[in-house]
Parts: sequence; C-alpha cells; structure tokens
Amino acid sequence: MEYSSLYPWIYLFLLILSNIWIIESKKFVVTDFGATPDGKTDSTEGFASAWEKACGIDGGMVSVPIGTFLVKSGNFNGPCNGETLFHIDGIVKASDAPTLNSQDYWITFFEVDGLTVSGNGVFDGNGAASWSRCHGISKCQSLPPTTLKINYVKNALIQQINLINSKMFHLIIHESDNVTVNNVHISAPEDSPNTDGIHIGDANRTTITNSYISTGDDCVSIGEGSNNVNISGVSCGPGHGISIGSLGKYEEEAGVSQITVRNCTFNGTQNGLRIKTWAPSSCSSVVSGVTFADIVIENVDNPIIIDQYYCPHGSCSREGESSVEIKGVKFVNIKGTSASDTSVSVKCSKRYPCQDIEFFGLDLTYQGQPTTALCANADQKFGGSDQTPSRCS
Ligand SMILES: *[C@@H]1O[C@H](CO)[C@@H](O)[C@H](O)[C@H]1NC(C)=O
Ligand SMILES: *[C@@H]1O[C@H](CO)[C@@H](O)[C@H](O)[C@H]1NC(C)=O
Ligand SMILES: *[C@@H]1O[C@H](CO)[C@@H](O)[C@H](O)[C@H]1NC(C)=O
Ligand SMILES: *[C@@H]1O[C@H](CO)[C@@H](O)[C@H](O)[C@H]1NC(C)=O
Ligand SMILES: *[C@@H]1O[C@H](CO)[C@@H](O)[C@H](O)[C@H]1NC(C)=O
Repeated sequence: MEYSSLYPWIYLFLLILSNIWIIESKKFVVTDFGATPDGKTDSTEGFASAWEKACGIDGGMVSVPIGTFLVKSGNFNGPCNGETLFHIDGIVKASDAPTLNSQDYWITFFEVDGLTVSGNGVFDGNGAASWSRCHGISKCQSLPPTTLKINYVKNALIQQINLINSKMFHLIIHESDNVTVNNVHISAPEDSPNTDGIHIGDANRTTITNSYISTGDDCVSIGEGSNNVNISGVSCGPGHGISIGSLGKYEEEAGVSQITVRNCTFNGTQNGLRIKTWAPSSCSSVVSGVTFADIVIENVDNPIIIDQYYCPHGSCSREGESSVEIKGVKFVNIKGTSASDTSVSVKCSKRYPCQDIEFFGLDLTYQGQPTTALCANADQKFGGSDQTPSRCS
C-alpha cells in the first residue's frame, strides 16, 4: 500500500478528534468552577461562572453532574452568543427559606434565544417551609418564588427534567415565544398551596407534550396574553386540572387565544378542564379559539367547568360581573368518571354571556349513572344527543 492512500484516513481521524475536542471544549462542568456536590455548600457562584462561559460561545453547554448542589439563586441571563444548553444530571436544590431575597423566582433563564434545558436531573424547590407559612395565598406577606422562570426567551426546549416541591409555581413561561416542554415530571404534595405545575403568561407558541404533573394546584394554568398553546399527552393528578385563567383580576390584561388541549388524562383531580375569570373584573379581555379534545377523566370533582364568578378563599367583597368575554370553546370526546353528579358546569357573566360553547362526544358518568350539565348565560350547543350528558339545563 502506498503511503499516499493513508492520507484520507489520517485526515478523517484528525477531523473526528478535533470535533470531540470542540464538543468537550464547549462543555462547562459546574464542579470545575467551584460548585460542590455536598448538598450544603452554596454553589451559586460555580453555576454562574459556568453559565457565563457557556453563554459566551455558540453551542456552549453547562453541565451539572450527579450529586446534590445547594444553589441559593440562579440568574442565567442572555443574550448569548448562539445556542446554549443546560444539561442537568444531578439535583439542584434551593435553600429551605420560605422566600428568597424577595425575588419571584429561584432560577431564571432570561433573554436567551436558542435554549435547551435537559437531562434526568432534578430542580428541588425545597418548599415545605413556604407551604406551612402561607396556606391560602392571601395569608402570604410576600409571595414565595417560582422554581424555574423562563422569561423573555425564544426558541427553547425544556426536556426530560424533574421539578419537585416548589415553594410556589414550578415552571413559568413568561414573555416568551416558541417554547416547548417535553417529557417533564413535576410533583409536589396534593395539599401544598399554589404549587402550579406550569404557568404560561404573555407568551406565544407554547407546546407542552408527554408530561406527568401532580401538584397541590393547577397542573397547567394558561394566563393572560397566552396565544397559540398546544398541550398534549399530559397526565394530571392529583391537582386542580388544566385551567385557562384566572383572568380579569388585574388591570390591562391581554386576551387568550388559540388554545388546544388534547390526549390528556386527569386522575383524582379537583377539576378537569376549566376556564375561570374573576367577578367583577379589573379589565375587559377576550378568550377565544379553545379546543379540549380526546380527554380521559377519572374520579374528577368538576370534569368541565367554566366559572366567571371565580373567587377563591372568599377574597372578593365587591359584587359584580366579569368583563372577560369567552367565545368559541369546543369540548370534544371527553370520557370517564365524575366524582359528582354534575359533570358540566358553565356559569358565564351576565354582562358578557359566553358564545359558541360546543360539546361533542361526552361520556361522563357518576357511580355508573349519567351525569348532568348546568349552564347559565351561555350560548351553548350539544352536537348530537347520543352523549352523556346530552343537554344543558
Ligand atoms: C422553535 O424552537 C425550536 C428549538 O426548540 C427550533 O428548532 C425551531 O426552529 C423553532 N421554530 C421556529 C418556527 O422558529
Ligand atoms: C406575541 O404576539 C403578539 C402579536 O403578534 C405580539 O404583539 C407580542 O409581542 C408577542 N409576544 C411575544 C412574547 O412574543
Ligand atoms: C398547534 O396546533 C395547531 C393545529 O394543529 C397548529 O396550527 C399550530 O401551529 C400549533 N402551535 C404550536 C405552537 O405548535
Ligand atoms: C397520548 O398521550 C400518551 C402519553 O400520555 C402518548 O403515549 C400517546 O402517544 C399519545 N397519543 C396520541 C395519539 O397522541
Ligand atoms: C388513578 O389513581 C388511582 C389512585 O392513585 C390509581 O389506583 C388508578 O390506577 C389511577 N388510574 C389510572 C387510569 O391511572
């Protein structure tokens, strides 16, 4: 064999080697920056330094190895120099303080375009002290922080991670565009207050797929300014279901549109599919283009509920009507068992009655008997009488 015929192979070998070197050199392991996996030493600085490096180059990756890292706060700010990855294999744990420096989050990704947060690791909010401090949100002096806040982020994928025992919400997607959450596991005790799984607000193009959520509040809550949200393959329970709202509590809220919830299951939850608005409202806005389809319900108190007189903890003293308009909501193929005789409850605003509320293919029973539907101030239609319930009284 002539030497010259070996050149292509040598060239290929060097190419592979240099690629491995580039990938390795783009990886910043938090323990190389002083983070200590002993569960006690504050690793805030080590995480911050690794992020700064990763954010500085296209394809940079923060790597969190196996072990428990106490992190008092995580501010992972952009803009970055291209795609940035945050890979977590270990446990990142919050301090057990009920609030954190009056911030509304523990860890945030802020102003990043092109973000992946992945790995089998855990974000542990260590929330027990917050829950006992403020049972009922109105009893809290300052609100406890959210575990993970995705804020002003574009084109992000949050995949596979675990979020447990948040002090308040587990994951917030806020002022963001094109964020996908896939195969995420979220859990907190059934009696932990306000531990919503995922909250979406002022965000466009959000996708949530194949995730398991059990919490003390909504599994997913879709707040003001949420547009183009697709949720599918979510298993919810225990918890308060998947909710649009609550809406109308604050001034100048943006509307909610293009929401699809499909192929989800609810087991032992307080609600299944819910839209809730406060009365009276502090603003007017519109909820439109909502589809709930192919849903399995098991032992749920309120499988389908539109409540425009939402007022938890008896915290509203004023009388009045909601100014949030609800129009174009479809419930299609919703099957299973209710934990009460009324499976559909639609209570709309007298000021703005609901428009175009449609039901197809319901099959909801209570202890083997057909359930009933109650509607007020709603322009509603049951498509086909071969469903249970088949009409609204
Ligand atoms: C949305 O974000 C993903 C990254 O998660 C990216 O691959 C995709 O191209 C983005 N879509 C659009 C329309 O920008
Ligand atoms: C969402 O879309 C609306 C309408 O196009 C736009 O005004 C708003 O800035 C967008 N918000 C985000 C966070 O992308
Ligand atoms: C949600 O699904 C609808 C209908 O399939 C699609 O038009 C829309 O682009 C999807 N939105 C996102 C954020 O993927
Ligand atoms: C429905 O969701 C489950 C996960 O709960 C998933 O495995 C299945 O593929 C989904 N089916 C469809 C038709 O999307
Ligand atoms: C619902 O939860 C109960 C109690 O945790 C469990 O026994 C049952 O198997 C669950 N059902 C489904 C369909 O997962």
